[in-house]
Amino acid sequence: MKIGMAGQLHVMFFLVNVYVLIVLSVVSSVRAKDYISAVGDPGMRRDGLRLGFEAWNFCNEVGEEAPGMGSPRAADCFDLSTKVTKYQKHKISTQSSSLEHKVSEAVNKLGVGTSFPGLKPIAVNNTDLYAAEKEKYLGSLCEVEDTPSPWQFWMVMLKNGNYDTTSGLCPKNGEKVPPFKPGRFPCFGHGCMNQPILSHQPTQLLNGGTMKGSFRGTYDLGADFSGGLDGISFYEVAWEKKLGAGGWAFRHKLKTSKKYPWLMLYLRADATQGFSGGYHYDTRGMLKTGKMNLSVNCLLCAAIFPDDTKLTRLVVLQLPESPNFKVKLTLDIKSGGGPKSQFYLSDIGSCWKNDGRACDGDVLTDVTRYSEMIINPETQAWCSPSSVTNCPPYHITPNNIKIYRNDTHNFPYGAYHYYCAPGNAQHLPEQVDRCDPYSNPQAQEIVQLLPHPIWAEYGYPTKKGEGWVGDARTWELDVGGLSKRLYFYQDPGSHPARRIWTSIDTGTEIFVSNKDEVAEWILSDFDVLLT
Ligand SMILES: *[C@@H]1O[C@H](CO)[C@@H](O)[C@H](O)[C@H]1NC(C)=O
Ligand SMILES: *[C@@H]1O[C@H](CO)[C@@H](O)[C@H](O)[C@H]1NC(C)=O
Ligand SMILES: *[C@@H]1O[C@H](CO)[C@@H](O)[C@H](O)[C@H]1NC(C)=O
Repeated sequence: MKIGMAGQLHVMFFLVNVYVLIVLSVVSSVRAKDYISAVGDPGMRRDGLRLGFEAWNFCNEVGEEAPGMGSPRAADCFDLSTKVTKYQKHKISTQSSSLEHKVSEAVNKLGVGTSFPGLKPIAVNNTDLYAAEKEKYLGSLCEVEDTPSPWQFWMVMLKNGNYDTTSGLCPKNGEKVPPFKPGRFPCFGHGCMNQPILSHQPTQLLNGGTMKGSFRGTYDLGADFSGGLDGISFYEVAWEKKLGAGGWAFRHKLKTSKKYPWLMLYLRADATQGFSGGYHYDTRGMLKTGKMNLSVNCLLCAAIFPDDTKLTRLVVLQLPESPNFKVKLTLDIKSGGGPKSQFYLSDIGSCWKNDGRACDGDVLTDVTRYSEMIINPETQAWCSPSSVTNCPPYHITPNNIKIYRNDTHNFPYGAYHYYCAPGNAQHLPEQVDRCDPYSNPQAQEIVQLLPHPIWAEYGYPTKKGEGWVGDARTWELDVGGLSKRLYFYQDPGSHPARRIWTSIDTGTEIFVSNKDEVAEWILSDFDVLLT
């Protein structure tokens, strides 16, 4: 009897062990082969598009709305509805699809002073707060239910780099400062920080099953760009996809002009909540976060436990955190945008304080952190043995060896375009440049990279010209691994910050061009893979 019990127990334990082994191997093989995507629309393949639009002034605010345009936040979101008509007699059925838009043009044109559901009274008459609230409202209309949490949209971001220093509009490292005399920043005079004209072509389903839409416009208020673009600024993002096949292609175009020589246009995957890179308001976006039950089929389990054909495990889905994520995208650059076009193959943004704590909205201590890979072969390394103040204090190799920038034999100067430290850093180890204190709502730190053999390990471009005009490529970048090893400033002795990236984008910043320049590129397949 005793022996029999022990024997049964032994068999039970054996089965449980087999079960556990199967659980572990199935779950780990799922993780090894099929990556978990951090974005709501992995690879941009969802027919029902979710796309937002935002425009920022020099310090990532609105300032003044463009006449008749409303607040510079808009969205193009729709679901597909399919009608099946059956002809019983002839035994044939036809399917017709149509797009059901979620955001009306009246909502897209909502501007300061006009209420909408959920608008906080304090924001009604404040252009900056109004835009932040409108983004959340658009998000609520576009939201897609999903596990572990809903998501809202990809985000087109447009920014005008003009700064009217006599306006006193932009704080310095987050601190309100009085106006000062012009000269340091481009500005043609009063009104140079204006918001753009936005013309929206809502997505349409054309005969033949292609869906198409666009956001386009200019900063030159009153300009008519139907007759050509000579002398005026221009931007456009036009999207296209075949119904039920492939993915979306986003064709971007950005043109500078004499009055608007510094423009930025990106397509961003932002966090669905919290502060995304450079944005000190609650954001809406694509990067999901939360807990989910991951289920996998398990046929062997069924043999042991007939009722249990699925194995379920609780998985915490996080925002991309260094080193555990990759970014996948296809980029086809048609026109580079001239020598000043800092084309970012990838641009990541986040926020943490100098003492390593997460940001909490206090603009005096929050610090925006950016890192960008610039692929314009005309962009030179400003970091060099003779200009070490433009370099980070050290470089870390993939085998975690630290190379100081004074080590002229080993430091990869050519891999760094420019490094600048947060304006509010109190204990910088050595002489470094400080980042521009006005172009963000708070202090910022920027690490800009260039193609170089040392980045090969991460799948990044290793030679100038890779991925540039005429060399369209699909990239799988180990952005997580690389960003884990970049230098970012922290106070001595502080606990290292968790590098959680709340914004990942691709696009160009034409950085004060002295003539009209045009950049044109197509982005597709964008995905963020948690590894
Ligand atoms: C907003 O401005 C309008 C017009 O000046 C005014 O009537 C209204 O009371 C203001 N609303 C708030 C909440 O301040
Ligand atoms: C996961 O599944 C368990 C068991 O069904 C359930 O109690 C739990 O709430 C689920 N968790 C989530 C995040 O869905
Ligand atoms: C190089 O810089 C490091 C870190 O600042 C310092 O410890 C070291 O002494 C320097 N080496 C030389 C040769 O100056």
